[in-house]
Amino acid sequence: MKNAEYKSIYSKYLDLFNEYSEKVFSSVKSDNNLAEAMKYSFFAGGKRIRPVLTLAFADSLKGNLNEVLPFALALECIHTYSLIHDDLPALDNDVLRRGKPTCHVKFNESTAILAGDALLNFAFEHALENCTKAEHIEALKTLARLSGYMGMLSGQQTDIENENATISEQTLLKIHELKTCKLLTAPFLIGSILFDKDKEDLSNEFGYISGLLFQFTDDVLDVLSSEEKLGKSIGKDLKSNKLTSVKAYGLNGTLEIIKSYGEQAENIAKSLDSTGFLQCFINEITERINEN
Ligand code: IPE
Ligand code: IPE
Ligand code: MG
Ligand code: MG
Ligand code: MG
Repeated sequence: MKNAEYKSIYSKYLDLFNEYSEKVFSSVKSDNNLAEAMKYSFFAGGKRIRPVLTLAFADSLKGNLNEVLPFALALECIHTYSLIHDDLPALDNDVLRRGKPTCHVKFNESTAILAGDALLNFAFEHALENCTKAEHIEALKTLARLSGYMGMLSGQQTDIENENATISEQTLLKIHELKTCKLLTAPFLIGSILFDKDKEDLSNEFGYISGLLFQFTDDVLDVLSSEEKLGKSIGKDLKSNKLTSVKAYGLNGTLEIIKSYGEQAENIAKSLDSTGFLQCFINEITERINEN
């Protein structure tokens, strides 16, 4: 698949997802600031890679996209809540997200905590309303596990506990595996559970390696990019003395590892997806470094 084709297919899934999200969130209302804060962060302008991958992978398995949309939405709600809470003063204390003031800056800390909670709750409320067969429940259980205390949240906890810690490669990989790879595995496991159970092992492998690639790149961009390009503050990891790949391997070492993860991920992508979309997705992650 050529890059231009990838970009146009990406925006096709993105439009489909955004249209669906607008419709679903149009009935999310409250007579206080809660619904407004939920929508503020959800529609702030994220790249939407997780829902787009969910749709693209389901499509590659000839699955019904209408069937998978509620799960794509749930996943993006969970991801958005994780960012709202990640930015809170008690965690990373960030003021810029998706090119806009973070939720607690725009509203206040208590509203941001509750808007995050509400998005997490809404993810399951919405997906459950659309569960009509056993596979749907299984997919949702998987999403709960990937984002829960053994998944993303555990990674966030270990990340925070290791601020100022001495370098340990094992701990670094554990943090990345949990805080980032778990939610990046969800698009592929959801598709496999719904449409092709034989793809579960490859989905786990691909989610892991592409998640590492994604987080190593995120760590590099925290050093090399700009606020305008990235839509979030730069240099925060060093300032907070986070255990990142750049801290563990240096900039050049990290770039070397990124190259190797990219090759590994592309190989798995070839077996997982015959359309070529996932291979292009991997290329795009590393391209972000060149574009800065
Ligand atoms: C940011 O995720 C958090 C990480 C796992 C590094 P994204 O880079 O996907 O953020 P958005 O959704 O585009 O804002
Ligand atoms: C956070 O990792 C991953 C999440 C689970 C939210 P980071 O703290 O590196 O993400 P950014 O750089 O703030 O987006
Ligand atoms: Mg963080
Ligand atoms: Mg952060
Ligand atoms: Mg980061």
